[in-house]
Amino acid sequence: MKKLFLLIFIIAGLITGLVFITADKAVAPVNNTTPTAKSNTSSSFDKTTFSTTDPSSVWVIVNKQNPLVPKTHEPNDLVIPDVPLRVPGNESMQLRKEAATALESMAKQAKAANINLMLSSGYRSYNYQVDLYSGYVKTQGQAVADTQSARPGYSEHQTGFAADLEPTSKICEVEDCFADTLEGKWLAANSYKYGYILRYTKTNQALTGYKDESWHFRYVGVKLSTMLHNTDTSSLEEFFSVSGGPNY
Ligand code: DAL
Ligand code: ZN
Repeated sequence: MKKLFLLIFIIAGLITGLVFITADKAVAPVNNTTPTAKSNTSSSFDKTTFSTTDPSSVWVIVNKQNPLVPKTHEPNDLVIPDVPLRVPGNESMQLRKEAATALESMAKQAKAANINLMLSSGYRSYNYQVDLYSGYVKTQGQAVADTQSARPGYSEHQTGFAADLEPTSKICEVEDCFADTLEGKWLAANSYKYGYILRYTKTNQALTGYKDESWHFRYVGVKLSTMLHNTDTSSLEEFFSVSGGPNY
């Protein structure tokens, strides 16, 4: 009889152990998800976080198909960034506060790498763009002017989020050769870390409608600039599927 009890006890023990092992397996964390670069894919990115049409939005898309609305829009938090300025005192030495702060950080980091950046042109009002564009039309004709200068009401400089940059040495100032300077190369590789993107490139000409401008940087915030960088996306137009191109 004792032996029978002992046998029952052993069998019960074995069954209990088996249940625990099975249960343990059942609740053990299942780590079968392969790490992916999910945060780098546009499918997990909320493209509606900010407006792409409101002229005061950090993601606003301004091109020949999408003017600022209203065309005379004026930003309300323009400041003068604490960086070297090409024309101190000029209206174009201003940027929206957030873009100015980012430019200050970028210029500071660049300086530590012996890269000396200067603001060449930032905010431009509607009237400022009237003068600038008509100057280009007078000297080059409208067809050529339209490949490099926006008509009034169509320039992202008017948002206060665009910055033309140049070296403090003024070498290759607003010229194609800026792309080959230390400053141009550093900016092309690093500006996204500060929320700026190179807006007009050889790759995106058909979408932006402008010749490439290695000096023209647009502030869009670090989240979007990093996304565009990581996904190798050519332009805001491509990312948001917004119309653009060379025709008004
Ligand atoms: N150069 C750029 C396209 C502008 O005028 O806004
Ligand atoms: Zn520009």
